[in-house]
Amino acid sequence: MSFTGKVFILSSATFIIYVGIQIYKYFQPPPLPLYDENEYWGPGNQPSKQDTSIKPFMINVSDEVLNDLKYRLENDRPYTPPLEGIQQQYGFNTNLLKEIIKFWKNDYNWRERETFLNQFPQFITNIQGLDIHYLHIKPKVSSDTIIFPLLLLHGWPTSVREFYSIIPLLTKEDNERNFVFEVVVPSLPGFGFSQPPSKRGLSPSKMAVIFKNLMKRIGHSQFYVQGEDWGGVIATSIATLFPKSILGLHSSMCMPSGPKALIKLFISSLFPSFFVDKRSKHKMFPLLEKFSLLLEEFGYYLLQATKPDTVGIGLGQSPSGMAAYILEKFSTGTNVSFREREDAGLKETFSYITLLDNLMIYWISNSLTTSMRIYSEAYSTHARSWEVSR
Ligand SMILES: *[C@@H]1O[C@H](CO)[C@@H](O)[C@H](O)[C@H]1NC(C)=O
Ligand SMILES: *[C@@H]1O[C@H](CO)[C@@H](O)[C@H](O)[C@H]1NC(C)=O
Repeated sequence: MSFTGKVFILSSATFIIYVGIQIYKYFQPPPLPLYDENEYWGPGNQPSKQDTSIKPFMINVSDEVLNDLKYRLENDRPYTPPLEGIQQQYGFNTNLLKEIIKFWKNDYNWRERETFLNQFPQFITNIQGLDIHYLHIKPKVSSDTIIFPLLLLHGWPTSVREFYSIIPLLTKEDNERNFVFEVVVPSLPGFGFSQPPSKRGLSPSKMAVIFKNLMKRIGHSQFYVQGEDWGGVIATSIATLFPKSILGLHSSMCMPSGPKALIKLFISSLFPSFFVDKRSKHKMFPLLEKFSLLLEEFGYYLLQATKPDTVGIGLGQSPSGMAAYILEKFSTGTNVSFREREDAGLKETFSYITLLDNLMIYWISNSLTTSMRIYSEAYSTHARSWEVSR
């Protein structure tokens, strides 16, 4: 073989090996980011001494806050009526809003709801500079019942309220099983009664560090975790960053976004039966329909990922504005076909009382803006290098 022939074969082989290695690397999980267990998120400089005490907490809203809320609800300007024949297609229907605000003013008894919300023991402890609020329910059981610690994480626009019905089921003994859960339900930083960060960059995966530290503070080096919405992202991050701490992970929002997932999505969009079973096909395909639905419904996502503070100003001043913004998500998030209903289908799954409980947690803590920032932090260049998405 000629010299040029050999050079050609050698360089082709080198090229193929190089490409092979790159493709192989592309499919490998990225290295775990380094995390700082003590990263400080509070205001100003980190104090030299850390307060590690755990303080009992009760929701106790002052009359002043309640009177102010009443005043605002009673002094709304007239709402812009919806277009004729329109239900929720242009956003939350103001005829429905009127009905809900009336219920809020006349039938929703906050002091009663406060007692309801205080039914589980609550605590506050400072983690990495932030006062973190959480429910902590220790089951009382006979000696041969095993107790597993379980961390439950909520998302947006929800709160610890979403777990109130399931807590008794998890913490009470049952003849069918020989275990119960010791349940810890924190408010995410900047949501409800957990202090918001003063520094930028508290992305979901950095919240994972906070919650792992919270569980350690409570005395659990190993625990189960379940997450919902952003809570699911945080739960996955805890399991990824601290696999030894996690006994099991359950997520109501699993989002694979690595290269393998994208290739599978592409192939299954042409041949669905390759990766998706018949029963679930309609949930993923046709892709065009699903993607246009995303565009129609995820405007808020882009807004909150870019300008949360601007949207937050008006919503934070107006309880009815906040109600419309949040309840619209509960409607469409439950079933997009509820857009075609005058009542937004809200009572199919919820009651006005439970919806207002959740809303009140955002209102009295004035935390809508800081809660919306989680979208920005998840996508900011500041956090991206750090985000765990696979
Ligand atoms: C709530 O706060 C008020 C006023 O500070 C106080 O009188 C009341 O006892 C508190 N209630 C609870 C349940 O802590
Ligand atoms: C949404 O509502 C429609 C109409 O009421 C119903 O046919 C459909 O099964 C619902 N979808 C889900 C996921 O519940």
